[in-house]
Amino acid sequence: MKSLNLVPFVSVDNMMRIVLEIGLEPVLRDLADRIEEDFRRWESFDKTPRVASHSPGGVIELMPTSDGALYGFKYVNGHPKNMKEGLQTVTAFGLLADVDTGYPLLLTEMTLLTALRTAASSAMAARHLAPKNAKVMAMIGNGAQAEFQALAFKAICGIEEVRLYDIDATATEKCIANLKGSGLRLVPCRNPEEAVEGAEILTTVTADKQYATILTDNMVGAGVHINAIGGDCPGKTELHRDILLRSEIFVEYPPQTRVEGEIQQLAADHPVTELWQVIAGTAPGRRDARQITLFDSVGFAVEDFSALRYIHEKVQETGMAQMLDMIADPDEPRDLYGMLLRAQAARAA
Ligand SMILES: NC(=O)c1ccc[n+]([C@@H]2O[C@H](COP(=O)([O-])OP(=O)(O)OC[C@H]3O[C@@H](n4cnc5c(N)ncnc54)[C@H](O)[C@@H]3O)[C@@H](O)[C@H]2O)c1
Repeated sequence: MKSLNLVPFVSVDNMMRIVLEIGLEPVLRDLADRIEEDFRRWESFDKTPRVASHSPGGVIELMPTSDGALYGFKYVNGHPKNMKEGLQTVTAFGLLADVDTGYPLLLTEMTLLTALRTAASSAMAARHLAPKNAKVMAMIGNGAQAEFQALAFKAICGIEEVRLYDIDATATEKCIANLKGSGLRLVPCRNPEEAVEGAEILTTVTADKQYATILTDNMVGAGVHINAIGGDCPGKTELHRDILLRSEIFVEYPPQTRVEGEIQQLAADHPVTELWQVIAGTAPGRRDARQITLFDSVGFAVEDFSALRYIHEKVQETGMAQMLDMIADPDEPRDLYGMLLRAQAARAA
């Protein structure tokens, strides 16, 4: 009989083994497909804006969802000040459970998995919204998420050149060193204006706990796609409001994005399109070559659910997990106390 007390746990080490065994780009492509699959059946998910606990230094969030068969949640933080203290801005872990019994099926690190799923979601959205045959992407903000974004856009959208800018030149140097040999043409830029020159996709992935203006209106020409990742908290945005007024805006889950996304700068009834509708074919994506499309990404629980589902499958295939004695599961379900007594007796013996 299965040991119901044991829950597979994917450590950071095992997550890296799974990714390296399959290959980073195949993982990004698989994740993009899983996320797209789940967006297509959007209406079958229980959805709620994430539960955020704000503090002066950052935010801690819980992100739950369920499709009726599986339940998943992620714990994630966002602390822009951390990096200067030698800590990560974003860390995460998550859990997948069986709805029928409520028993957990998987506990996993999600810091790496969040970077992978965010990059896969961005590229999946761009597959529907970016100009056809886009080859050049600007990336402003070259921190922890950056390489994953670059590689997802290469693997999923066919991007060939990434133009990099960060206020901290060492971040750009790190990114270029890490991406050397990826097949991407990497262009370090001295300012954001230089980074957006000739780019068909503009990715903003900076971290600052304030209204920032990473892109000003004059930097955004007709026909580009903006992948705005870093504005994901109340009071934390990256784009000048005028850009939003010229763009066709696509979002994950409006009740969450209206509070956390770039559109917190707009009226509560400003028209937006839900990305899932584009994927399901009930709303248009990019309509013409001159339109500015904006994916106002904040990160939604369904994307993490897709990632948890994927890793659960890979653990079943590869066995790359440790078994954690995590659920008290006495032989007689009502005899929880008896289990404790028997353990006491065993210790005394
Ligand atoms: N939308 C999502 O689903 C999602 C998922 C993960 C992370 N995020 C967000 O993405 C952002 C980046 O995350 P990270 O883990 O890469 O953070 P990070 O701290 O590792 O990197 C952020 C980088 O932005 C740079 N930066 C800050 N202000 C800048 C400016 N004005 N111009 C240019 N560069 C600037 C910093 O120097 C740093 O290198 C965070 O805001 C995070 O909350 C969003």
